[in-house]
Amino acid sequence: MAEELKVAGTTKEERYSSLLPQIRSLVEGEEDVIANISNVVAAIKQTFDHLWVGVYFARGNELVLGPFQGPIACTRIALGKGVCGTAWKEKKVIIVEDVDKFPGHIACSSESRSEIVLPAFNKKGEVTLVLDIDSKNLADFNSVDEKYLRNVIEIIETIIV
Ligand code: SME
Repeated sequence: MAEELKVAGTTKEERYSSLLPQIRSLVEGEEDVIANISNVVAAIKQTFDHLWVGVYFARGNELVLGPFQGPIACTRIALGKGVCGTAWKEKKVIIVEDVDKFPGHIACSSESRSEIVLPAFNKKGEVTLVLDIDSKNLADFNSVDEKYLRNVIEIIETIIV
């Protein structure tokens, strides 16, 4: 495991390109899901300093809060509710440029202005968790984030089966 995260580059592409191999190395040789997810969200938070980075695990018909970095958050989200519950229900990545314009957005923090949520799947095609990243800035997430965060999801899918 790396001893220290190196935050390199100024563009998103450079930062993600530097981050991804470090995330792979962080989870290598460790089987504990909570330990690994904790380090994955911490590495993203440390690299970009977003307001909130964390996961919600799919449990029955609810999402339950998992490892995160940022302000305290709601612990349970029903299927289809908010951005996270919608990403889970529709099994797709959702980018919200302005949270005030997303019907049903759940405001865990009043400081959140934009958001990206990506689901992770098991081999049966069921959602195991969603990765949620919130920003204080409007329209902070785009297809570049989606592309690289899909790679993060692929890593997560190897550690939560
Ligand atoms: N905004 C999310 C809820 C989770 S928090 O932002 C951490 C949503 O609408 O699903």
